[in-house]
Amino acid sequence: AKHLLSIEQLSPEEIETILNLSDEYVDLNRRQVKHSDALAGLTQINMFFENSTRTQASFELAGKRLGADVMNMAMQASSVKKGETLIDTALTLNAMHPDLLVVRHPHSGAVELLASKVNCAVLNAGDGRHEHPTQALLDALTIRRKKGRLHRLSIAICGDIAHSRVARSNLILLGKMENRVRLVGPPTLMPSQIAELGVEVFDDMREGLKDVDVVMMLRLQRERMDGGFIPSEREYYHRFGLDAEKLSYAKQDAIVMHPGPMNRGVEIDGLLADDINRSVIQDQVEMGVAVRMAAMDLLARNLRASSDEGVMV
Ligand code: CP
Repeated sequence: AKHLLSIEQLSPEEIETILNLSDEYVDLNRRQVKHSDALAGLTQINMFFENSTRTQASFELAGKRLGADVMNMAMQASSVKKGETLIDTALTLNAMHPDLLVVRHPHSGAVELLASKVNCAVLNAGDGRHEHPTQALLDALTIRRKKGRLHRLSIAICGDIAHSRVARSNLILLGKMENRVRLVGPPTLMPSQIAELGVEVFDDMREGLKDVDVVMMLRLQRERMDGGFIPSEREYYHRFGLDAEKLSYAKQDAIVMHPGPMNRGVEIDGLLADDINRSVIQDQVEMGVAVRMAAMDLLARNLRASSDEGVMV
């Protein structure tokens, strides 16, 4: 493919290919071999129209470790603030001939629209409540490395599902890899077309976590709640916050995940988040660099192959 816009677009075989190459990059990074030339001579521009710590930092590091020239657009200081549209901004950058554009945007579908207007490869770093494909891939890599497989696992995704692109991408990926996914959270924070998803839904944490292999917690996405239902933090933590007691309903070796940023004492107990015997939150961050290296490496191979074809024609 030319772009990485969604998990929806990927086949199980393509997901495996990305994870297998990511595994090689994890091992390389652990041996502190932090440079290769997979993206040498290529220009990567990161455009984040929404705040980010993990995704932006890891895309930047990934590009630099692969030898790309990486530029971070400071969107807060850009001409977007003077009224320039997303498409005009993209066309302006496109005229500078980047090879890879990494884009995060608050509106669902904005990254796909942008990809249709530019010549380079586009990677979706999160669009509204639609998809966050590299997050689901790094979650999958973490699960595969911790559990030794990525199929026939029982996985509970818990919390604010309705507003979460992370939940959506994970649901699609884990389903494609033949896992049993459950959604756990208040009915007010479940997507409206829940029946079409074909997954089990629980509004009780103890029932929802019973015998699962993986517990994936999510943040309350207040910025996407549009003045609708916003639960009180204390009440929410009491009913849906993950602590050791609720986790005791899951399998004894169940792992705890969170994409970050987390709100300690709202959706997760701070001590549990730091418990390295159960929590793999820092592993997820580490896998994020490797997955983004692999995704950009594979897209760059396609770019080079199609430009070689161009020369031959
Ligand atoms: N998980 C995630 O996307 O984190 P950031 O918003 O910090 O990039």
